[in-house]
This record gives sequence, structure tokens and C-alpha cells, in this order.
Amino acid sequence: MKPLARKVLQDLSVYSPGKPVEEVERELGIPRAIKLASNENPLGPSPKALEAIRNALPHLNRYPDSHCFYLKERLSRHMGVGTDQLIVGNGSDELITFAARAFLEPGDEVVIAEPTFLIYRIAAQIAGAKVRVVRSKEFRYDLEGMRRALTPRTKLVFIANPDNPTGTYVTRAEVEEFMKGLPEGVIVFFDEAYAELVEAPDYPDGREYIPHHAVIVTRTFSKAYGLSGIRVGYGMSRPDLIGSMQKVREPFNVNSLAQAAALAALDDAGHLEATRRLLREQKPLLYRALEEMGFRAVPSAANFILFHAGPRAVEIARALLKRGVIVREMLAWNLPEHIRVTVGLPEENQAFITALKETTPNGRFS
Ligand SMILES: Cc1ncc(COP(=O)(O)O)c(C=O)c1O
Repeated sequence: MKPLARKVLQDLSVYSPGKPVEEVERELGIPRAIKLASNENPLGPSPKALEAIRNALPHLNRYPDSHCFYLKERLSRHMGVGTDQLIVGNGSDELITFAARAFLEPGDEVVIAEPTFLIYRIAAQIAGAKVRVVRSKEFRYDLEGMRRALTPRTKLVFIANPDNPTGTYVTRAEVEEFMKGLPEGVIVFFDEAYAELVEAPDYPDGREYIPHHAVIVTRTFSKAYGLSGIRVGYGMSRPDLIGSMQKVREPFNVNSLAQAAALAALDDAGHLEATRRLLREQKPLLYRALEEMGFRAVPSAANFILFHAGPRAVEIARALLKRGVIVREMLAWNLPEHIRVTVGLPEENQAFITALKETTPNGRFS
């Protein structure tokens, strides 16, 4: 049969997300699965966001505000950028595709790291761009290597900071070195999906580079704010770059419940602090447990941990699944010996540790 899809789609695999809890429960007959696979906030959404969603429900007969006026006003104050420097997306994922659609011509080059968030490559390939991959070193972005990978055809560089699936971050000093004398015509996209959760003092805020460089910075309500399911994220940049991304946006890309929830979530500093506190308490416990079991874990600045589980990592992840604990095997990232686990509630983390101990007595899968 003659293929009807565009040529660039023929070799492209479909992004495979973490399994939803309901699917695991249904397929394995497990009553209460624990999901530690998608870097979500285990505390749930802020009660203020839930109330705002309830209040917005009776108005669902109306289209949402296409321009997210109130949310942008609020974000403008919150982030100290103009409303013309903001764009809101159906998750920050959508802003990645906006950037690819708005700035990439077929044949342009995009520089990404490996391993990193998979959507950059997919978005670039769909746009017909050539993807140059720079391997990270010890699971940290090699910004020097990425700098060397720039050519006169480079249009976009994606920097996940912190990175997913590693959880590592690039420091202010490293970014400053990278930005120095960056050739004109290169857009640097800082994906800061986990920024609100980072505690490191040398973690740079991509916003600082907006006045002097072609930089796009994205943030999301999916992680720290516990609103993954409603899909809302935002991008910040120079007004001209934002203007180009606005042109490729669907008119009603952010639904009205998402706009209401995001607005309310920004007012709930307590919920954000509770999320950060949970991480501060639980992440060290997980690291200690992994170390005691003999697993090497990558130091993470975010709400998940990547660890080396050995040649049978995929089997281990599947054995954990059978015990009702959903973690992420890393085949899609070409890391067949690793597992990524999201930091959950104390009892969820304990259940993960217990299940991991049971499946790998003496640090070995049996
Ligand atoms: C680095 C990174 N960027 C972006 C996203 C997408 O988040 P959103 O839910 O805002 O689309 C994720 C989600 O896992 C991520 O890890």
C-alpha cells in the first residue's frame, strides 16, 4: 500500500507515556496501584485550584478565553515579565511543539542532549529538522559539547533544566559560558518543568537571559502545582518570539478549567511549600534505601530519581508492576539498565522500597 503519511512520520515512533493507574489495575487485577512513573505531585492539586475548577464548571457552555487574559496578568506579576512576553499552552509539551512549528524549516538543525525529554526530538523531526544529539557526561548535560555541535544551520537548542529522566541540572556558570557569544539565529529553549522544586543555589533561572538572547523559557503547572491532568503550562520570551508562537497556536488551546485552576494554584504558596517539604524529607530516604540495596542512583534536583538497576532492570520494573508499584523502565531512552522512580507519599515510597527489596534480594533480581 502506498504510504499516505508524510515521509518524516514513517520512522517516527509514537511517544509512550507512563501507564495510567487505571490501566494497571484493570490489566493486572490490582485494586490499588501506586503510580511513581510520571513525575506527578503525590499531594494532589491545591484545594484552591479544585475550588476554582468547581466554580468554573457551570460556565462550560462558553468557549475559554483564547488569550488567557487573567492568567497572563497574574503570571506577569508572578514572574516579572510583560504579558506580551507570555504564551500559555495545553501543558508545556505544547509549547515545545509551538517552538518547532514556529521556528523550524525543513533542513534546519536542532541540538539536543541524550538522554533527555523525548518530545524535543519528536517535535523537531515532525518539523523536518535534522537532530544533532550530544551525549551527556555522567548523566549531566555536556553544554560544551552542545556548543561545539552548533553549525550555521542550527536554529534551536533544547535544554531541560533539570533534565528528565536524569534529574540533573546545569549550573548558572555553565549556562553563562554556553550563552557567551552564542551565534545569532540560535534560539535556546530552557525547559524548566521542575524549576519550582529545585533547591540548589547555583541553579540558573532562564528568565535572566531573555533580555539579551533569543531564549524561550517554559514552566508548567503539571509538576510542582499538581495539575498534570488539566494540562496547562506557559512560556516566556521576547515579544517577537512569543508573537511567532502565537501564530501557530490553536485559538482555544487552554480550556477554561485549566485557566481557573492555574490562577488559583498560583495563590496557594502553602501547597507549593508542602510539596517542596515532602521532597526534602522523602528524597534522602529513597537515596539511602537504594544505596543500601546496592543500586547506584543519579543525584536529582527534581521529584524523581534515576537509578542503575542492572541488566535485568526491565524485568525488575515489570515485577514491581505486578506488586502494584508503577515505575518507569527506560528502554525508550536507550537506558535498558535503569529505572526512574518518582518521589511519592511516605507510604508509597515505603511500598516501592519493600517491593524492590522483595524482587531483588541481595541486590539481584530473582
Ligand atoms: C522536562 C519536561 N518537560 C516538559 C514536560 C511536560 O510537562 P507538561 O505536563 O507541562 O506538558 C515534562 C513532563 O514530564 C518534562 O519532564
